[in-house]
Amino acid sequence: MSSMPPNLASPALVPAPVSLREHNTLGLAARAAHCVTIGDPAQLPALTRLAARYDRRLVLGGGSNVVLPPEVPGLVIRVALPGLRLVQAREDAWIVEAGAGHGWHDLVQACVQNGWGGLENLALIPGQVGAAPVQNIGAYGLELAERFVQLQAWDIEQGRRVTFEAADCGFAYRDSVFKHARPGRWLILSVRLALPRPWRPLLRYPDLLEHPDLAGRDPAALSPGRIFQAVCQVRQAKLPDPRVLGNAGSFFKNPVVDAATHARLRTAFPQLVSYAQPDGRYKLAAGWLIDSCGWKGRSLGPAGVHDRQALVLVNRGGAGAHDILALAAAIQREVQARYGVALEPEPVVVSG
Ligand code: EPU
Repeated sequence: MSSMPPNLASPALVPAPVSLREHNTLGLAARAAHCVTIGDPAQLPALTRLAARYDRRLVLGGGSNVVLPPEVPGLVIRVALPGLRLVQAREDAWIVEAGAGHGWHDLVQACVQNGWGGLENLALIPGQVGAAPVQNIGAYGLELAERFVQLQAWDIEQGRRVTFEAADCGFAYRDSVFKHARPGRWLILSVRLALPRPWRPLLRYPDLLEHPDLAGRDPAALSPGRIFQAVCQVRQAKLPDPRVLGNAGSFFKNPVVDAATHARLRTAFPQLVSYAQPDGRYKLAAGWLIDSCGWKGRSLGPAGVHDRQALVLVNRGGAGAHDILALAAAIQREVQARYGVALEPEPVVVSG
């Protein structure tokens, strides 16, 4: 990590009341009494001065991984820092940097269109670039951490710019140091990624291996664009479009259990879907655990379980945080009772 001294001259920021319904992909009715939008790094010193007046702060990116209460307390900081540039064309990688406010999918698409392959397995993940490292987004056999070089962040509390290298970020499965920091401590400004040259298709994941456009093809004949299309098709078939049906992607992490627990479960439930981990433990498909309890497609009030992917909770219309959390708790209880496995929510649940 390295840091630079703050620039003290910057314009004032005036917080305003804002409806956040359009700014969380679950589509929960939520309101912030005090909200600011950061669209220019010159606003950062003023942000630090303003934030000091609030005991609670929330940095909101695309709102695709949060459960918001009806009244979000404290200061809400929205991120609109733009930008996408090729930093360096190295022999072994394209080094690309994007502003935290850039849409994640737009970044993936722009890279594919420019011939910089390597992010296509992460197509159609909702949210902004700045949120991607927070939960180390992953899909179809690739995690952000595998492409990550460094990020720039603003330390809101101390008013300084800090560079985080990969080793500083504590990346793990849907996890990083940013998920455990005090809420509102860090504002991620930009993210730098390395897209490997030569490009190779990543087809570890069954949904891609078996995709009609990809199955049995010579990997040399494939292109990033083709994988991109296939990933978009697979996601569109299974995962609801948040603009149509509010959701926050997978609502639970896939739980990891030790080998003895796994062996016991497999004996009792031969259909169990699980994946051996390099450390000898097993990751269980939470979607299967929930599905096999009969939850797929069911609802509890206005909150429901998606009918094509049981790991995705949806807002069927007018749900509040309490509806989503009541459904999540009912699912957790049943999975715990039947399998003895605790499901951990994946999104950040903001208290009111
Ligand atoms: N399954 C069922 N019923 C279901 C859902 C899943 O039986 O309703 C079983 C199936 O056997 C399926 C397996 O579970 O083959 C795994 O399901 P899927 O391939 O849909 O993946 P997942 O483990 O449920 C994870 C990520 C997704 C990511 C996909 C694809 C987590 C928490 N979720 O889901 O990420 O898109 O793999 O790589 O790791 C997200 O994090 O928001 C997200 C959507």
